[in-house]
Amino acid sequence: MKIRLDRLLAESGFGTRSQVKRLIKKGHVTVNGEIVKTPGFTVDTDRDEVLVDGEPAVFEENYYIMLNKPAGYVTSTKDRALTVMELVSDIPRFEKLFPVGRLDKDAEGLLLLTTDGELAHRLTHPKWKVPKTYYVVVEGKLKEEELKPIREGMKFKDFEAMPAKVRIISSSSSSSEAEITIKEGKYHQVKRMFDRIGHPVRYLKRIRFGNLELGQLPPGEYRHLTDEELSLLRKSVSL
Ligand code: URA
Repeated sequence: MKIRLDRLLAESGFGTRSQVKRLIKKGHVTVNGEIVKTPGFTVDTDRDEVLVDGEPAVFEENYYIMLNKPAGYVTSTKDRALTVMELVSDIPRFEKLFPVGRLDKDAEGLLLLTTDGELAHRLTHPKWKVPKTYYVVVEGKLKEEELKPIREGMKFKDFEAMPAKVRIISSSSSSSEAEITIKEGKYHQVKRMFDRIGHPVRYLKRIRFGNLELGQLPPGEYRHLTDEELSLLRKSVSL
């Protein structure tokens, strides 16, 4: 595989993109015995020998997994309770995977798991404002005018939610369905937003994460991202 030198080093654990660029520019990196100071230099992972201060950079391809998380699983790599890792344990080196952001134990839907620390870091960093869309069922009859505070932004003790997109799918006297898109990912954020307008969430499922769509992936199942999904996702956070 042909890859930029800085990406190879970042993906083989020598630091973030900017840290490895510094290492390269300072002359710590050799390719086939020659010092290379250009971060964008192309190397072939099948042929070239890359060393950082004499230590080989071993490239292990990253994994990018979309899981449809069922309720009842904790989004964590380690917990006394059942974790999402159980659902991907047939993937080789699955212990190196970690979830990008989190879904509550009782929540369902699209959860991205990856071995790529740099991408995960950016996707969860508030700076990049990656949109996340949820399908929710809430208590009571939702009315358009009640959604105003969600659409205008909401202040909480610990953070301020930016204006969110929200639309009612259906509503009856006992419950309503809606779709909401938020750009942050604070603890219990969607539940807290609907609590605030007097309609507690009874069911929550993430259906989109950035450019990724859950689609027809059955609950409890996973799939690898396609090359196109991955390249759009990387571009969305300037990688
Ligand atoms: N908002 C919530 O309240 N819970 C989730 O799991 C995700 C978003």
